[in-house]
Amino acid sequence: MAELPEDQESAPERGLASGGLESRAGLGGVRVLVTGGASGIGKAVALGLSARQADLWIADIDAGSGEPLAADLGARFFQMDVAEPGEWQRLVAAAGAEGFEIAHLNAGVATGEEDITALGDDQYRRILGVNVDGVVFGLRSLLPAMAGRRRGSVVVTASLAGLIAFSPDPIYTLTKHALIGLVRALAPRLEAEGVRLNAVCPGLVDTPLISSYRSVLAQASFPLISPPEIAEVVLACMLDVGVGAGTGQAIVCQAGGGAVPYRFAGVPGPAHEEGEAAPLPPEHLSASTGAETQRLRHSDSGTAGLP
Ligand SMILES: NC(=O)c1ccc[n+]([C@@H]2O[C@H](COP(=O)([O-])OP(=O)(O)OC[C@H]3O[C@@H](n4cnc5c(N)ncnc54)[C@H](O)[C@@H]3O)[C@@H](O)[C@H]2O)c1
Repeated sequence: MAELPEDQESAPERGLASGGLESRAGLGGVRVLVTGGASGIGKAVALGLSARQADLWIADIDAGSGEPLAADLGARFFQMDVAEPGEWQRLVAAAGAEGFEIAHLNAGVATGEEDITALGDDQYRRILGVNVDGVVFGLRSLLPAMAGRRRGSVVVTASLAGLIAFSPDPIYTLTKHALIGLVRALAPRLEAEGVRLNAVCPGLVDTPLISSYRSVLAQASFPLISPPEIAEVVLACMLDVGVGAGTGQAIVCQAGGGAVPYRFAGVPGPAHEEGEAAPLPPEHLSASTGAETQRLRHSDSGTAGLP
């Protein structure tokens, strides 16, 4: 997994895209939000942030686990359902004008259902609400304060299921693909505002989320990733170091395979019927996909258009 410095003194000379964090030892005093911080990956990130003296806020629907954890870590616990926009308003009001400088939008659920015809409406709405709305509402609520100080970093927990087809849970796959698209589409605009946005894409991690697959995985001797390994990658994103340096990345984390930014293939670009390459649309429409389109234009039949 990513090599993470013990403290900022030993870190490479980098900070958030707009500068700032590198001058502060650890993350001392930096206000950081972790959603889904009461368990699994979020809890491991909370432990790492606490060790770095962050001003840590743990947000989770599960107060039974979250409250005692926050008390142990000297952190603040905020009980909320990330799927509810009103809960985000309540959080922003509690945080005040300072807001959060760093956030890990991590809360998530799975359906465990392979057959979408067996999936109830409530189950479907629930996973869309937590996994997708929870990140969209979170970004919408947290970004104004970050952009206002022109400094911030958001890490989203997507999944390897955001990059590959995870057939045991197609709707989970849908939600995680949605997050990758959101991160990639939004990051360039946020970079101009001094805010970095990255996604971590873990393979199977040893947390309660995968409890229904645990015995079959164990029988197959399938290696699981430990939550602290993912936390290292999340912290690297927050600190803008190592594999987490930069923005708009989808960082694949695999057991035994370390962490590596996923490299997306380009898509074929449009051409006129005569085979002549079509001109690119204006910058604000083509954005980063324009370069990919340009690169592939002459090497493919060019049937795909921009969305
Ligand atoms: N475990 C894996 O194999 C794996 C792999 C890739 C990605 N992920 C992702 O990692 C993230 C964390 O999952 P985990 O594996 O640590 O699972 P987990 O079940 O241990 O933790 C999830 C946390 O999210 C909280 N939560 C659930 N719904 C919520 C809501 N509506 N509002 C607020 N909090 C809510 C839970 O109470 C829990 O504390 C999820 O987004 C998950 O999709 C997990």
